[in-house]
Amino acid sequence: MQRILSGIQPSGDVHLGNLLGALRNWVADQHTHESFHPIVDLHAVTVPQDPEGLREATLRLAQVLMAAGLDPEVCVLFVQSHVPEHTQLAWVLECTAGFGELRRMHQFKDKSAEGDFVSAGLFTYPVLQAADILLYDADAVPVGDDQRQHIELTRDIAQRFNARYGDVLVVPEHRIPPAGARVMDLQEPTRKMSKSSGDAPGTVWLLDEPDDIRRKIRRAVTDSLSEVRFDRDARPGVSNLLEILGAATQRAPQSVADDYDRYGPLKNDCAEAVVELLAPVRRRFAELRADPAETQRALRAGAEAAGEVAAATMARVRRAMGFLPP
Ligand code: TRP
Repeated sequence: MQRILSGIQPSGDVHLGNLLGALRNWVADQHTHESFHPIVDLHAVTVPQDPEGLREATLRLAQVLMAAGLDPEVCVLFVQSHVPEHTQLAWVLECTAGFGELRRMHQFKDKSAEGDFVSAGLFTYPVLQAADILLYDADAVPVGDDQRQHIELTRDIAQRFNARYGDVLVVPEHRIPPAGARVMDLQEPTRKMSKSSGDAPGTVWLLDEPDDIRRKIRRAVTDSLSEVRFDRDARPGVSNLLEILGAATQRAPQSVADDYDRYGPLKNDCAEAVVELLAPVRRRFAELRADPAETQRALRAGAEAAGEVAAATMARVRRAMGFLPP
């Protein structure tokens, strides 16, 4: 079985765009691939985090992922900081990566332009990400196009390491996941649904109450033309609703469009489809909330399984680099 790895940051909650865009693929992939999913809390602290907030966000994200269908009995779901090899490998890879190539990373350039304090961790963030991937001999990394540069860097680092020390690391492929739905903001349908919009009315959270979901979708921006047609450029608002309804009911948005000639019924059906899609997620989440020990146990087992692979890779790396065994 091919091994894939994809990490997710414990920052903010998961929204409908995450579910229909990426998370759903992870849930499907866990049955056809050996899937590793670290919750990357070490990446989160590249910017200041409130300690209690980080603890809660990490546990909560694990619960959301499990509620959405990631099964810790099937995939390896774990917390990055529970496996100390991530930082160990990151250090030696930092000595393999070039200052110049890290300086060129778009995400670093964007993020360092925002804040006044730029941590060194923000600069080396992509190397920690490379360590996440290379520790597990991942064959492929199914992440969106925004991560392309980080995966290219991971490949470059692995190749350079291997050229220097022998065939030690597996060079992973970037796998653009099968087109998940592109879910846009309900109020600003020309930009992607995002976490950063706070509790803005344009974002549907996975754990929203059914009535909040209905309200947000009914108030979604459409346009003044009343014909229902799937056309992202001319009709971004309506097309987004078609996309969401299509994704929730496993249909192509173009064919969904044929069923409607008015916005009202489309919005209603879209809202009900999303409510139905998310109902089992909410239910399972509530169960997991009621018994946090179950999630803790699952994460401990995940860290143990991940740790075995990670320890073997680190042993290979240390031997290859010439560190004297203790
Ligand atoms: N940088 C990724 C993001 O912002 C998160 C991430 C960390 C990741 N480690 C990873 C993704 C390893 C894929 C593989 O989304």
